[in-house]
Amino acid sequence: MSNSILVVGGGGYIGSHMVRHLAERSLPAAVLDDFSTGYRDALLGAELLEGDLGDAATLDRALGSGRFGCVMHFASFIQVGESVGQPAKYYANNVANTIALLNAMARHGVRRFIFSSSAAVYGEPERVPIPEDHPTRPVNPYGRTKLMVEELLPDYARAYGLQWAALRYFNAAGADPAGRLGERHEPETHLIPLALRACSGRLAKLTVFGEDWPTPDGTCIRDYVHVSDLCDAHLLALRHLEAGGESRAFNLGNGGGFSVRQVIDAARRVSGREPACAFAARRPGDAAVLVADATAARTVLGWKPRFDALDTIVAHAWAWEKKMAGLA
Ligand SMILES: NC(=O)c1ccc[n+]([C@@H]2O[C@H](COP(=O)([O-])OP(=O)(O)OC[C@H]3O[C@@H](n4cnc5c(N)ncnc54)[C@H](O)[C@@H]3O)[C@@H](O)[C@H]2O)c1
Repeated sequence: MSNSILVVGGGGYIGSHMVRHLAERSLPAAVLDDFSTGYRDALLGAELLEGDLGDAATLDRALGSGRFGCVMHFASFIQVGESVGQPAKYYANNVANTIALLNAMARHGVRRFIFSSSAAVYGEPERVPIPEDHPTRPVNPYGRTKLMVEELLPDYARAYGLQWAALRYFNAAGADPAGRLGERHEPETHLIPLALRACSGRLAKLTVFGEDWPTPDGTCIRDYVHVSDLCDAHLLALRHLEAGGESRAFNLGNGGGFSVRQVIDAARRVSGREPACAFAARRPGDAAVLVADATAARTVLGWKPRFDALDTIVAHAWAWEKKMAGLA
């Protein structure tokens, strides 16, 4: 029975939460990961097929087993700044290795593919909230790698019968509500974990880039979406494809958005500690406001984010940060 799900990148932040999410629902799954940025202990006992997704033999072994009906693909490099300095690393892993994965799926008749895309495909927004049909003009190699993969999916659908969903996450945030997993990027570049590291003492000072943006408090506004809600969306996307639903891209965000100052205030409220902050100039390529129009995920997939309150997202992330900092 090919009803199992292969979670590629299941040792990473979002993938490990997905693996837990599937296990809690007794859905059969296995992880493919090379632990280039992931963690073995994040698997929490899930089955591991260890290897690099660029390796055809590893892929043939995994996908040739006939067990898998769906691949959820979380594995990529994710540091925007690094992608500017080392585009070759990003095109090789995020694009070429994804093509190797899709080719192996085609060879072995594995038809369902759920891809971790990103709001980075849009680039500088012309309007917010951003709908899926907004122009896609990524402003860095990382965003371009995500768009390149999205653009080749319809060709694989036509030729090999691939059914796909590209889930464009805005800012993934939060942690397992039960405290077993959380965000562990090194280096960390995301605001919520950095603000909380500044609270725990693992980071001396949080740098805020720009306080002169055209927003109510002068800092950038981003759309934070809880990692458990992302997991819900993946499962709903799979059900949508199984029911013969249209292969397409979906934005995943709460549609609201919080400013950097609001996040810092939430970190202070939740942790009861003062994060030290330094203000610096705006970074090139940043946008003032990035907020999703996620109407399609709600109406087509029936997605309903459960953890959309900023303090809940920050509280779950703080429980994890306390663990990492040895405070829990
Ligand atoms: N974190 C966010 O806010 C965010 C936002 C938008 C999109 N995304 C996308 O979501 C996905 C997951 O992000 P994350 O934050 O969990 O990243 P992560 O770095 O924590 O996880 C990536 C996982 O993939 C594995 N991996 C990478 N290359 C591999 C390879 N060649 N072979 C096998 N395993 C490999 C890593 O070891 C790691 O376990 C990525 O595709 C990312 O682009 C993340």
